[in-house]
Amino acid sequence: MDEKLVEFCKPSMEHPVAIVLGSGLGALADRVRVVRRIPYADIDGFPDEAIPVAGHRYEVLVGSLDGVPVVVYPGRVHLYQGYNALQVTSLVRHAHKLGCRSIMLGCASGAVRDVKPGTVGVITDQINLTGHNPLDNAEGVAAAGLDEPFVPMAGAYSAYLRDLAKDTASEAGFELAEGVYAGMLGPSYETQAEIAMLAGFGVDYVGMSTVCETIMARALGMEVLGVTLVTNQAGRPDNSHEMVLEVAERAAETMRAIVLGVLKRMAQ
Ligand code: HPA
Repeated sequence: MDEKLVEFCKPSMEHPVAIVLGSGLGALADRVRVVRRIPYADIDGFPDEAIPVAGHRYEVLVGSLDGVPVVVYPGRVHLYQGYNALQVTSLVRHAHKLGCRSIMLGCASGAVRDVKPGTVGVITDQINLTGHNPLDNAEGVAAAGLDEPFVPMAGAYSAYLRDLAKDTASEAGFELAEGVYAGMLGPSYETQAEIAMLAGFGVDYVGMSTVCETIMARALGMEVLGVTLVTNQAGRPDNSHEMVLEVAERAAETMRAIVLGVLKRMAQ
C-alpha cells in the first residue's frame, strides 16, 4: 500500500471526501450530519436554470457521514440535457475548491455483458464516447488550474479506493462487480449495434454521466472512485427511464453500504 496515497486521501475537515450522488445513492443525503448548506446557485459554472424552484436536492451538504467529513452533491446535470462539459464538471471544481482530494461518483448504468440488473460495480476504467471533454477549451484548462490540457488518463480510477470498496463488499458478504464504463452522450438508449460495438471495445457498463467528471477530477489531481449501479441490460427494446429508477431504488442499499464502507476505511 502506498502510504503517501493513504495519507493524501485521509478525510479531515480540511480535506473532506466529495460524493456525487447518482441513482441509488439519493437517500445518503438524509444521513449526512449537515453543518453547512451551499445552494447550487453559488457553484461557479453550474447552470442556474437547472436548479428547480424550491429544490432542496440542489443544495451541497457539507458535514459528515458516520463521522467522516464529506461534501455531498445530491444532484448533477448531464450533457444530454444540453449542458456543456464545463457546466457538467462544475461540481468537481467546487469540491476541489472546498479542499476535497478524493471524489466518489455514483451513477446508473446498463450492462453491456451478462451482468444482472441490481448489481453494483466499481469502475476500473472508462471510455469517453460522449464527444465532449471539459479540457477542450481555454476556459476549462484555466478552471482546472492547468497551463496545458494534456492530462494523462491512464489509471484514472483509484486502485486504492477500489480496494477499499472490495474490502467492504467481502466483509459484508456481497458480491461487487468491476469493469469498464463507457460514457455515451445519450439521452436515447443504445442500439443493439452500439452495444455489440461496446462489447467489442471491452466495455462492461454504459451510462450517460461520470466520464467528463472523472477527466476534470484527474486534471485537478483528485483520486476518483466510480460506483455504478447496473439497472438494466443495455440495448434492450423495453429499456425505460422508469425501469432504471425502479431498479436503482431496489439496489440502493448495497450501493450505500459500499460508499459508507469506503469512507470508514479511508478514515482508518
Ligand atoms: N444506457 C445508457 N445509460 C444508462 C443505461 C443504459 O442502458 N441504464 C442506465 N443508464
